Amino acid sequence: MPGFKVAVAGATGNVGREMLAILAERRFPVSEVVALASSRSVGKEVSFGERTLKCRALEHYDFSDADLCLMSAGGAVSKEWSPKIGAKGCVVIDNSSAWRMDPDVPLIVPEVNADAARGFAKKNIIANPNCSTAQLVVALKPLHDAATIRRVVVATYQSVSGAGKEAMDELFSQTRSVFVSDPIEAKKFPKRIAFNLIPHIDAFMDDGSTKEEWKMMVETKKILDPRRDILREAPGCLVVDRREPGGYVTPHEATGEDATYISRIREDPTIENGLNLWVVSDNLRKGAALNAVQIAEVLVNRGWLKPKLNAA
Ligand SMILES: NC(=O)c1ccc[n+]([C@@H]2O[C@H](COP(=O)([O-])OP(=O)(O)OC[C@H]3O[C@@H](n4cnc5c(N)ncnc54)[C@H](OP(=O)(O)O)[C@@H]3O)[C@@H](O)[C@H]2O)c1
Repeated sequence: MPGFKVAVAGATGNVGREMLAILAERRFPVSEVVALASSRSVGKEVSFGERTLKCRALEHYDFSDADLCLMSAGGAVSKEWSPKIGAKGCVVIDNSSAWRMDPDVPLIVPEVNADAARGFAKKNIIANPNCSTAQLVVALKPLHDAATIRRVVVATYQSVSGAGKEAMDELFSQTRSVFVSDPIEAKKFPKRIAFNLIPHIDAFMDDGSTKEEWKMMVETKKILDPRRDILREAPGCLVVDRREPGGYVTPHEATGEDATYISRIREDPTIENGLNLWVVSDNLRKGAALNAVQIAEVLVNRGWLKPKLNAA
């Protein structure tokens, strides 16, 4: 298979580093991989399989001969750069929330609605859903196939890694402070995060919900669009459900794994035809980097994207 020139924008971040690892791990057909980040990171080294790449500045990079850009540099950067990169004929697969609800941008979880990725050509942008939405729809799809879901009630317990590398550093330093009795400093999070939980992600909305809660709702509806022919098989899920101590998967065990694990399946006695279940997956993989690479694989395997250098 001919190789593609792939740029990874946000290569120094949590998601970007995972994208580079997954591209290498899955042997994505590349002719060249370019690591991009902010100008602060020029020359910084990141790993791509056995190789080391030196980061270049996104703002000075010419995308004319790049085929794909896996973008995980935040919403503001994506809003500004994705249309410019798309206009150069390079397809952007974006991890931020900037484009998810744009009607001209497909929002894709390959196990669920890969066919819809074909609509990428309008803007040359494809969106990845929020990390919680991605695993949710993988678990909901087989149920939706069987019985058309009418209502979903979700409680999420989200990893600090979902808020980026600064957030992980804050958890580390606060945890250390707890053990050595130093004062706790909160910068990235509004309250202490070490040995604690915060019932709030993203901005508050007028109705009292948060933008993260809103995103899960609208993105799930866009991906599980009932008018779409999504109802075939149920890949991506692994049911681990023994009704005994330890007969379920915990977040720690899902770290580094590709599957969405489903445990604790039981009927909900409070509502007719209700089901309760526990769903776990690695937010940096299925929730972000793996999903992005899987979308790229759909474009390549279905022949919807050809490498520019071989096209002439
Ligand atoms: N973490 C998750 O589970 C998850 C899941 C789904 C989606 N996402 C989304 O993915 C994106 C990245 O998340 P993350 O967790 O990887 O964050 P992160 O660890 O904070 O990394 C942010 C990345 O963006 C780069 N960046 C920042 N400003 C830039 C600029 N002006 N130009 C070019 N690059 C710039 C940073 O480069 P420097 O190092 O040079 O600053 C870094 O590589 C966010 O949009 C996030 O919402 C994350």
